Amino acid sequence: MPVSTFNIALGLAATRVESFLDATLPPPDNAIAEGMRYAVLNGGKRLRAFLVMESAALHGITPEVANPMAAAIECLHAYSLVHDDLPCMDDDDLRRGLPTVHIKWDEATAVLVGDALQTQAFQYLTEASADASAVVRLVGSLATASGALGMVGGQAMDIAAETADVPLTLPEITALQALKTGALIRWSTEAGAVLAGADTTPLRAYAEALGLAFQIQDDVLDIEGDPEAAGKRLRKDEAAGKATFVSLLGLKGAKDRARDLVDEACTALTPYGDAAENLRQAARYTITRAT
Ligand code: IPE
Ligand code: IPE
Ligand code: MG
Ligand code: MG
Ligand code: MG
Repeated sequence: MPVSTFNIALGLAATRVESFLDATLPPPDNAIAEGMRYAVLNGGKRLRAFLVMESAALHGITPEVANPMAAAIECLHAYSLVHDDLPCMDDDDLRRGLPTVHIKWDEATAVLVGDALQTQAFQYLTEASADASAVVRLVGSLATASGALGMVGGQAMDIAAETADVPLTLPEITALQALKTGALIRWSTEAGAVLAGADTTPLRAYAEALGLAFQIQDDVLDIEGDPEAAGKRLRKDEAAGKATFVSLLGLKGAKDRARDLVDEACTALTPYGDAAENLRQAARYTITRAT
């Protein structure tokens, strides 16, 4: 099978963001700095970095300007994973094929590594050589996307749902996943348009559908994925009482929903014409990926 332009762009975004992170993260001369590098540099698909770079390219923003933004979102995302894996959250011992940070070090180190990755993300934003008012908007929107009205809010709903007496409804699960996973994906996708001072409406519609499809595939993979490929423990969600599209609609219903969302995402890209082909392929990849 020929390598698609999407695969090339994803690989290029990964290489760019990883060399930037390696060159700019605090030197690994203490456990926290070592843990930060361990959590953010060892693997990961770099989908969020790709979305930043692609959104930037679509708006004529250079990779040099976009790269710190890509590094920021990968740090923020890595922080969310380090904390998600803690014993008080999902209690996981494997991430990206390696022991989780609290297993490799200890829980206090994992909490602090997550904290430090989060602040590092905002530092990267402020250091970007971009228009200052765009940077301020990106700092504000990343704070919203990450906090109580974003990823953290979604994580709290996810934990609360585990012990809820009544299963969540479809609108409730949609709202949960839009915050837990969707908010950071939306920020990544809109970043290039914000940098260029362009309209974010079409990319927002794309990202909202993509974010949901992405989390549905994560939930599908928890049931039928290959743990070796995923690099994390699978078959955990049902036992933990996680509220997902799969728990409500079943595997087939969830997959059908994800496919509809990918169609929706692709339709939202119509205003960009052929220039958005990589983003269309990214949407399809989101629900066919094994990892
Ligand atoms: C995993 O995210 C957690 C979710 C939000 C579902 P990814 O599947 O993007 O993880 P990496 O970055 O590739 O490891
Ligand atoms: C994690 O969702 C979402 C965030 C970290 C914000 P999951 O708990 O389903 O992710 P995995 O399956 O552990 O990667
Ligand atoms: Mg979780
Ligand atoms: Mg988890
Ligand atoms: Mg999961």
